[in-house]
Amino acid sequence: MGELIDGKAIAEQIKSQLKAEIGTLTEKVGRAPGLGVILVGDNPASKVYVTNKRKACDELNIFSQEYLLDKHVEERVLRETIEQLNKDDRIDGILLQLPLPDHLDEDAMVSLIEPAKDVDGFHKLNLGRLLWGKELFVACTPLGVQQLLLRSGVKIEGSHVVIVGRSNIVGKPLATLLMQKKPGANATVTVCHSRTGNLGEITRTADILVAAMGSPGTITADMVRPGAVVVDVGINRIPDETRKSGYRLVGDVDFDAVKDVASKITPVPGGVGPMTIAMLMANTVRSFKMRNGLPV
Ligand SMILES: NC(=O)c1ccc[n+]([C@@H]2O[C@H](COP(=O)([O-])OP(=O)(O)OC[C@H]3O[C@@H](n4cnc5c(N)ncnc54)[C@H](OP(=O)(O)O)[C@@H]3O)[C@@H](O)[C@H]2O)c1
Repeated sequence: MGELIDGKAIAEQIKSQLKAEIGTLTEKVGRAPGLGVILVGDNPASKVYVTNKRKACDELNIFSQEYLLDKHVEERVLRETIEQLNKDDRIDGILLQLPLPDHLDEDAMVSLIEPAKDVDGFHKLNLGRLLWGKELFVACTPLGVQQLLLRSGVKIEGSHVVIVGRSNIVGKPLATLLMQKKPGANATVTVCHSRTGNLGEITRTADILVAAMGSPGTITADMVRPGAVVVDVGINRIPDETRKSGYRLVGDVDFDAVKDVASKITPVPGGVGPMTIAMLMANTVRSFKMRNGLPV
């Protein structure tokens, strides 16, 4: 079996480094870094993410403020909440939990977030800066995947990375991040999606294969080159009567079969998920430092 990349342990390591740094920074500046989180509606997965984010803030002594808005909330109210957080000096990072209910224009709402507080890296200005190689904030999941690889001793430079998925929050920013002309990047990147004709043929050429599709168990062992590194971003809830919750979480990779082919592989849960939260904390600290004129 390939080596398991323990995202939970790596995320814990990052958080404990951040906690020590936050202690020093809080003393220096006279206040703690602050994160404002907005959750609209009651999407169960979103509620779990928001709870995990709150726990991480508490653990690291980051000040956090939550706004829980009704699923039928008027756009005007959401707009005012974002504007209030933009102006709040205690808040360094703003996170608008996606997806939003259908009556709200996601694009317009994300665009209202002050780019200097956009710790999720979803604002168009921050996506553009990443494309330019002058990033302010990089989206947390792509950043988490990069850190997971680097901290597991995987060589990204010169490797062929195949990413399956081209979303604006995972696939596209990850491709852009790993192809940068910078240390920890310099990969040759191929991006696949649902219209890719010969998916297995392409994935088999990957040194590092990243699955970010939202399609349970779709990457099978025959799609992976023996010895490749496999990162599973997917989080899918599938019914499971043996669980109290009635479901279990699986990734986009057929883990049981692929683990015997890959040299290293991330599990779901416990792989990319905890890294996303750790990177949100890291981006909040980064924003705090920039807003207080401290080096990042
Ligand atoms: N671990 C974390 O922290 C974290 C963070 C964010 C997301 N996620 C998970 O990652 C997954 C992807 O999220 P997302 O927001 O990027 O999803 P998304 O917006 O739905 O995008 C999915 C992408 O995968 C492609 N795709 C879907 N099925 C495919 C298939 N059978 N073959 C090839 N390509 C396929 C789609 O192609 P088209 O463009 O052609 O439709 C699309 O580009 C989800 O399971 C999500 O829950 C995890």
